[in-house]
Amino acid sequence: MGIKLPSTDGRVVTVLGGGVLGRRIACSWAAYGFDVVIRDPSKEQRIGAIHYCQTSFGQYSDKEERGSVSAVEDLAEAVKLAWLVIEAVPENINLKISTFADLEKLAAADAILTSGLIIKRITCLVASSKPPTAPRSRNLIHLAYLRMLLLHKSAAVSAGAS
Ligand SMILES: NC(=O)c1ccc[n+]([C@@H]2O[C@H](COP(=O)([O-])OP(=O)(O)OC[C@H]3O[C@@H](n4cnc5c(N)ncnc54)[C@H](O)[C@@H]3O)[C@@H](O)[C@H]2O)c1
Repeated sequence: MGIKLPSTDGRVVTVLGGGVLGRRIACSWAAYGFDVVIRDPSKEQRIGAIHYCQTSFGQYSDKEERGSVSAVEDLAEAVKLAWLVIEAVPENINLKISTFADLEKLAAADAILTSGLIIKRITCLVASSKPPTAPRSRNLIHLAYLRMLLLHKSAAVSAGAS
């Protein structure tokens, strides 16, 4: 089943988790002009994620017009204006399931909910959700993730060559 794209006017992309993957996903969206909100319970990670984004836009696009990037602790505040939510919390299945249960309550009804979970289908995270939630939930193979794989691969090749 396809997803009806929600309006993006005055709305943001929310990334849950500002760690290794989350901050790269956040930066890639902001580099293409989307306003981004990162939610991370760790103050240190929030500061690190913002710093990464402010210094790395150029790695993702040459666009001059960047989106804004902010980082907050509170989940409700983070998803209040989200048209797209990208989950990048630690690889803990129970945490991911409870995160999606919270999103069902807190995110706008038309927001698209995605997870970078790659070893399982997203249906395992939303199995006990209400009927409107599963159809707007998707696994997301993000370009920032593919890019990380390529960087790791080329670093491994260089290391092997030296
Ligand atoms: N790093 C990779 O190469 C990679 C690749 C593919 C998929 N992933 C997946 O992406 C997810 C994140 O991986 P990572 O490497 O970025 O992990 P990470 O540990 O670097 O970052 C996770 C972040 O989530 C934060 N966090 C903890 N609880 C949270 C919550 N309830 N809500 C929001 N944030 C919370 C942590 O403070 C941390 O900053 C994992 O599921 C992982 O398997 C990672």
